[in-house]
Amino acid sequence: MAKKKTTAYVCNDCGADYSKWQGQCVDCGAWNTLAEIRLGPVSGAGGRSSTGFAGAADGLISTLAEIELADIPRIGTGSAELDLVLGGGLVPGSCILVGGEPGAGKSTLLLQTLCKLAETHSALYVTGEESPQQVAMRAHRLGLPTDKLQIMAETAVETVCGTAARLAPKILVVDSIQVMQMDDIASAPGSVSQVRESAAMLVRHAKQTGTVLLLVGHVTKDGSLAGPKVLEHMIDCSLMLEGSSDSHFRTLRSHKNRFGAVNELGVFAMTEKGLREVSNPSAIFLQRGDEVASGSVVIVVWEGTRPLLVELQALVDDSHLGNPRRVTVGLDHNRLAMLLAVLHRHGGVMVGDQDVFVNVVGGVKVLETSADLALILAVISSFRDHPLPQDLVVFGEVGLSGEIRPVQNGQERLREAAKHGFKRAIVPAGNAPRQPIVGMEVVPVRKLTDALDALG
Ligand code: TYD
Ligand code: MG
Repeated sequence: MAKKKTTAYVCNDCGADYSKWQGQCVDCGAWNTLAEIRLGPVSGAGGRSSTGFAGAADGLISTLAEIELADIPRIGTGSAELDLVLGGGLVPGSCILVGGEPGAGKSTLLLQTLCKLAETHSALYVTGEESPQQVAMRAHRLGLPTDKLQIMAETAVETVCGTAARLAPKILVVDSIQVMQMDDIASAPGSVSQVRESAAMLVRHAKQTGTVLLLVGHVTKDGSLAGPKVLEHMIDCSLMLEGSSDSHFRTLRSHKNRFGAVNELGVFAMTEKGLREVSNPSAIFLQRGDEVASGSVVIVVWEGTRPLLVELQALVDDSHLGNPRRVTVGLDHNRLAMLLAVLHRHGGVMVGDQDVFVNVVGGVKVLETSADLALILAVISSFRDHPLPQDLVVFGEVGLSGEIRPVQNGQERLREAAKHGFKRAIVPAGNAPRQPIVGMEVVPVRKLTDALDALG
């Protein structure tokens, strides 16, 4: 009988498997990312060994119509922003990954949520990074109810699952998955094999018992979760807590959600009393001084199911470099290059010898193309040192032939802008409102040249 293989290699970046070590991962092209993993027997209850098909038990089959749809009530977290991002609360038996850079506030967010949830649902908080004293001190300082939440300092996954099986909590938090380890895996905590196997065992436990599992995951410098692909397929929902360290705003975004809309955005502020919800985020991102500055314009982006007003800034300055700089913060770098080309070709404005910097205020990341037109107008405004009106909002996608394309939910965007006191809007013709919006003058544009004319 052939000797059974006991090791394999997994790419740290993309999670691809290899039977032999090699310098480059063929799947993602990364160099030197393959790490050895031990192939142990699949552990935990319900584990099966793959021993071929002969003699295997026959499975039960049914059609989708025959499956009884139990109406599983969602568990509200007590935080409207968190519920929104989750798609309406926690689903029993689901696994949620809360990612973010160290210091983003993941532990704070989960501790706050869990302390309150524990009042009504049994909950267990497993802390692998901080001592129970540290967690308790934080809970006291934040004035959270502390008499119900059960806490355990543990890094051995087997013990966590064993304890969870005995206590049968409705909600289980593991902070963080990178410090969890399994005894029969030789590699260090945080390595791909440890993270993968630990997560698999916890997820299996959650699915079997209907527990809500919240996993904390740290993000590496380049913005990905350590071994991202390794976890992605196992979990139901992946949330990212983001925010620069110099701003106290944090945004919580869902990147994958089997139970709700993705790219839903929740906004929080980190205060001395923990994370506070920001129920009207537009008002905060829009705090502008009275002085009118050139290069600044307000856009209405659509985040998940609601509009958000944010300020976009551009700075165009003579470049002393042979290759002028193009820097974006919160926007796609390639999109800027493309839009500058469109501006040159179809708008006749040449910024080839200028450095161009664009920034979305408040650390918000804009993933939509609806910011295109605003970006072009902000660039022109800065280039000509000609401020745009304070009460103007702009949105619309710009195509390669200089056409302005409509974006989704145009009416709602305009209404949100009107609500915040904006009086003028430059929008794609396809988004022009059928009925006039009270107190707002809307300028519909078809081509980039129309938009430039509208500026005067
Ligand atoms: P933490 O939740 O420990 O971050 P993570 O678990 O994501 O690593 O948050 C730590 C940061 O939050 C730390 O830099 C201090 C700040 N903070 C406050 O500003 N106010 C507070 O009330 C708390 C609890 C933390
Ligand atoms: Mg933490």
